[in-house]
Amino acid sequence: MKCLLFTAVFSLLFASFAFAKTDEINIVPKPQTVKPGVGDFTFSKKTKIVALGENERHIASILNEMLQRYFGLKLQITHKPQKENAIIFVAMDAVLKSDSSYGVRVDPDLIRIAGSEIGLFYGVQTFIQLLPIEFRKEVKISAIEIIDGARFPYRGMHLDVGRHFMPVDFVKKYIDLMSQYKFNYFHWHLTEDQGWRIEIKKYPKLTEVGSKRPETVKEKNLQPYIGDGVPHEGFYTQEQIRDVVAYAKARYITVIPEIELPGHSSAALAAYPELGCKQDYKYKVQTTWGIFKEVYCPTEKTFQFLEDVLTEVIGLFPDSPYIHIGGDEVLKDMWKESPEVASLMARENLKDVNEVQSYFVRRMEKFINSKGKKIIGWDEILEGGLAPNATVMSWRGIKGGIEAAKAHHDVIMTPTDSVYFDYGQGDPAYEPINIGGYVTTEKVYNFDPVPKELNADEAKYIIGGQGNVWTEYMQTPDKVEYMAFPRMIALSEALWSRPEDKNFADFTKRLAAQFPRLDKQNVNYRIPEPAGLKNMVLGATDKAIIELKPPIDSAKMYYTLDGTTPNENSRVYAGPIDIDIKQNARVDLKTVTVLLSGRKISVYSATLLRRDYLPPVELADKRPGVTYGFVVPGTDEGLEPRLTSGETKTVGIQQFAKSVDLKRPFAVTFDGYINVPVDGIYEFQAESTWDDTILVGGEKLIDFAGTKDRSFNSAVVPLKAGLQKISLRYNNRGGDPLFRVRWGIKGQGLRVISGGELVH
Ligand code: ACM
Repeated sequence: MKCLLFTAVFSLLFASFAFAKTDEINIVPKPQTVKPGVGDFTFSKKTKIVALGENERHIASILNEMLQRYFGLKLQITHKPQKENAIIFVAMDAVLKSDSSYGVRVDPDLIRIAGSEIGLFYGVQTFIQLLPIEFRKEVKISAIEIIDGARFPYRGMHLDVGRHFMPVDFVKKYIDLMSQYKFNYFHWHLTEDQGWRIEIKKYPKLTEVGSKRPETVKEKNLQPYIGDGVPHEGFYTQEQIRDVVAYAKARYITVIPEIELPGHSSAALAAYPELGCKQDYKYKVQTTWGIFKEVYCPTEKTFQFLEDVLTEVIGLFPDSPYIHIGGDEVLKDMWKESPEVASLMARENLKDVNEVQSYFVRRMEKFINSKGKKIIGWDEILEGGLAPNATVMSWRGIKGGIEAAKAHHDVIMTPTDSVYFDYGQGDPAYEPINIGGYVTTEKVYNFDPVPKELNADEAKYIIGGQGNVWTEYMQTPDKVEYMAFPRMIALSEALWSRPEDKNFADFTKRLAAQFPRLDKQNVNYRIPEPAGLKNMVLGATDKAIIELKPPIDSAKMYYTLDGTTPNENSRVYAGPIDIDIKQNARVDLKTVTVLLSGRKISVYSATLLRRDYLPPVELADKRPGVTYGFVVPGTDEGLEPRLTSGETKTVGIQQFAKSVDLKRPFAVTFDGYINVPVDGIYEFQAESTWDDTILVGGEKLIDFAGTKDRSFNSAVVPLKAGLQKISLRYNNRGGDPLFRVRWGIKGQGLRVISGGELVH
């Protein structure tokens, strides 16, 4: 609506002009309308900025800061009207209030940027993207008119500084980058099980004790679980917090603090154990990742503590309309065992521990509302009844968000499968360690915060979306940058631009123009895979001619076909590669891209198979689970051999531990059908001691005679969507047994096969 008004006002200001082509316009997020004109404006260090009011002068100084960073340029800021060679800020606050809409008009004589205060700031961010990243002395900017405005009022990025503390300088850099892509909320996750990061004057032990952990525990048995075994600490003083909040405000970003309750509170409980339900319990700042049973006890002492903490927090974030109170992943066992909780339940007529959580959140909401602020909570706050004025952050998919919007509560969509930037973004075999999952830049780009399930009225409650950066596996700012970029740029367009203006191929082209800007700011972004590098299944006569395109035109690509890791001594990619693949053979094409600057990215790979897909099978009658066979041989000491068989819903060996000592030799088989979601190349992996076999569609994929040492074996097979026969065999020849099978689309991560996804 506002944008229509803006278009009308803006058109009155400027006569329209002729159209030309828009090929070189690479603005992200994509503006609503871009109309190229005729002629060009010569931009140089002699160009002046005309800024009348205080706000305009502030925005002019931000523009100068960016020009300085990119080009070493600083323009003169003046009050005096100029006829030519000037950038004029046209303040339109009277009409537009605090609307995000803005216009940028480049004519041969003048550049005009118009909008409310915040609109002017966004106009400046767009204008800076009209400048090429390199120029000497002066540059010609083509005449153009851009009219734009945001789709959603809430465009957020989150940063977890609890798992790993991030220094103030980096937090400011993150805010700077957010502002360049028109984000307007920074969700600062300040307290966690593994560290309390904000100084609270009334409770000094929160940081004296709660901001330190002796180590991140190294290597657990399963999973890639990498701790570094060294101490971690860090917190922000109140002065630093104020500094960051002011820095963000100057860039039109509101900082929302998150103080987690009632769970994820181990660090606070380590500092003040009397806030827990168990008085003889050794609370500690956690040194591993996960969900912990330590939780604030809902006592008057705890509420007083939290109100004191929040009073200080609210004072530090005066401009945030919201305080985020967490509310996710609360294990309630300690409440179930607590006599204090039992008496609270009786007194307040609470039927279960979910209602205790609701009571907890409602009390905190009442307090926070009384201070003129609203609460945001993760979607678990829906369980047991939603607090009356809460905004819901829907992270476990979009279900919670739908429910909250239908109940007329504001919703911020942050579903794991689209906007969790701690998830892997490429083939896990080549990505640095991360928490798992698979969220590509394209997936983020295609994220639409408004679910189809909502009608137009309900959809109004979706105020926007947010990317979340949990830092379990991000020890340093460099790693945060790698995980956040370029996905955060894709998200900026998903939250700012209209759905009808979005197009991933077009975005990819505009994204390439962002990389040199990120280079100038020393951002350790992940350079995308070359276009054309994808897994392929080739028929007997299909040609294997692979054409690649580097993600940045000036980059050089090297490749191998023999499975070795490519480097600068490998073959240079100089045009389509004709690959010789025999029938039933596999070739892995591996590439590495090197930027002009010498920066090199991880190796990316594609698997090429020349063979037929396995067709699916039809099953008339199917039941969940698998059939199993379990064999224990007899022994010389007189133990009888045993053979059992039957049905089970679990693919695992521990289920047999009830009847047999699993350290003895045994063999087990599981047979069933797996539901393959889409056609593709699938990878199967067996993690085991001793011998394992995996058959798919009757074809032996893995047949491994092992030893008592743990090993991983994997193989690929092209499968058509539908049910595929699968047989798993394990032969334990003694000692601790281990047999786990994982599968997934090749390159997208593997997960353990569960009985629930099989039928027989
Ligand atoms: C969350 O990811 N636990 C909100």
